[in-house]
Amino acid sequence: MRKKLVVGNWKMNGDLARNAALLEGVCAASGQDVEIVVCPPFPYLAQAHERLVQSGVLLGAQNVAAFADGAFTGETSAAMLKDLGCSWVIVGHSERRALFGESNEVVASKLHRVTEAGLCPILCVGETLEQRESGRAEEVVASQLAGGLADMGSSRCVLAYEPVWAIGTGRTATPVQAQGMHEFIRECVRRRGLDGESVRILYGGSVNPANAAELFACPDIDGALVGGASLEANGFLAICAAAAAS
Ligand code: PGA
Repeated sequence: MRKKLVVGNWKMNGDLARNAALLEGVCAASGQDVEIVVCPPFPYLAQAHERLVQSGVLLGAQNVAAFADGAFTGETSAAMLKDLGCSWVIVGHSERRALFGESNEVVASKLHRVTEAGLCPILCVGETLEQRESGRAEEVVASQLAGGLADMGSSRCVLAYEPVWAIGTGRTATPVQAQGMHEFIRECVRRRGLDGESVRILYGGSVNPANAAELFACPDIDGALVGGASLEANGFLAICAAAAAS
């Protein structure tokens, strides 16, 4: 049985005062039958850790350096994230791939750094609208998985299917579209000789309180990576409750 996981990706939003209120609200979600992670921007990890440390809600980071340490101005290593109380790290988010030029090779190095530090990676994959419409969605996702999973062995990697056309657009994949791709991803994991049954696969892309339950009802959807809707405590709590009830 795979425990449901809901991850809030705050992206580049928030400030000390707003975070304090949001963290207070998020803590109310703990104690349910769902694992909950929040990923604030780097400068606020310490603030979040202080509030979350006894709460049962876990802390994650949105990105990590591809290098272990050294002269890499502006970068943040996996060891630093661990030091700040993170147990999870999002790797290969489509915004990183598209806006910051992260290739499958860079994503693979980051995954390696994360597992080496003893943290759990959340590897994001997903096709663009143009790739889906030209019938290449599975091919793109398979190549992102191959690049990312090359180094994974049997670690506790979580995968997140995030169709690029569904991120921040209000256009969610239908449960049938999402379930179809999740089933395909699980099969890809099995084909790499990894444990397809136990790996958790999250759906991400305009998840909100109104569509969460039908997504969580799909057999291969094990939770959600939530962007916009994670910035409002009540909405995020409703998504967590839907996961706990599924
Ligand atoms: P969204 O973002 O929920 O705002 O679509 C999801 C994500 O980018 O992880």
